[in-house]
Amino acid sequence: MGQKLVDKLKQHKKFELIASSRGENRISDKSGYVYEDLDITDREAVLACFEKHRPEILINTAAMTNVDACEENKAQCWKLNVDAVSYLNEAAEKHQTHFIHLSTDFVFDGEDGPYKEEDQPNPLSYYGESKLAAEKLLQQSKTKHAIVRTILVYGIVEDMSRSNIVLWAKGALEKKEKLNIVNDQYRTPTLAEDLADGCILIAEKAAEGIFHISGKDMMRIDELVRRVAKHYNLDDSFIHEVSSASLNQRAKRPSKTGFILDKARNVLNYQPHSFEEGMTKLDEQL
Ligand SMILES: NC(=O)c1ccc[n+]([C@@H]2O[C@H](COP(=O)([O-])OP(=O)(O)OC[C@H]3O[C@@H](n4cnc5c(N)ncnc54)[C@H](OP(=O)(O)O)[C@@H]3O)[C@@H](O)[C@H]2O)c1
Repeated sequence: MGQKLVDKLKQHKKFELIASSRGENRISDKSGYVYEDLDITDREAVLACFEKHRPEILINTAAMTNVDACEENKAQCWKLNVDAVSYLNEAAEKHQTHFIHLSTDFVFDGEDGPYKEEDQPNPLSYYGESKLAAEKLLQQSKTKHAIVRTILVYGIVEDMSRSNIVLWAKGALEKKEKLNIVNDQYRTPTLAEDLADGCILIAEKAAEGIFHISGKDMMRIDELVRRVAKHYNLDDSFIHEVSSASLNQRAKRPSKTGFILDKARNVLNYQPHSFEEGMTKLDEQL
């Protein structure tokens, strides 16, 4: 997600971009922005980086996002998803930086999706708990902030450190592998470009508060994979529907999330693509 933002923001007319991640810059095009090697769990390093650049806007896309790994390694999850956010927030508060922070549909229990921003969170997993704790941390601070909740992001970047459901399903179906896909979870999958655009609109409009930014099409995960098969003309008989319970995953997933996008559309003029349009966008980049 961070890389998508770099792609878009390095060409932005109004903003100068400082991109950061841990270690060497893994993006081959290094022009149009400054790069900083920054481990956000290092409070001193975060404060020093802010002192050096004094950013007007911060977009934090870093997180521990593997839901089962978070359940297994709670301390590591909290360190990145909550403690690091508190360091960024401390720096943002000091420099009056507009803090745009990424969060998740997993703050909800999935009992009555699709959700609007004011709906009551009730996370089922430690990942969701940690992301909600970070939201609360921002809400209780004096920092000017926006919380961007998103859902099941798919897209293509140069350095794919993590795959996503669309590319994974496409790859497996091409290899004619049998796929076990849950048929009791609903989502509104999000094109990475749309999410990046949502974050940039928030930055441009200096918008504050919670924003739900996702795709507009609600679907079951098995349906999603069938739509991938159809789009790429692949045999869908390899798709085997299973229940969430049968997977015995470490962390519980909410059954039906999905977002109501009225606020993002009205306040930001956010205009997401349909799922099929999203896959067509991927084709242009593959
Ligand atoms: N992807 C989704 O489907 C989804 C759904 C809902 C919400 N979200 C939220 O959206 C945001 C972005 O998600 P994503 O899918 O882009 O996540 P991701 O692919 O897992 O990327 C997270 C990034 O955080 C970086 N990172 C980890 N530890 C760091 C540290 N100590 N200092 C600096 N950077 C560090 C990682 O760098 P390395 O590559 O070096 O490890 C990685 O590039 C997250 O807040 C996530 O909770 C994502």
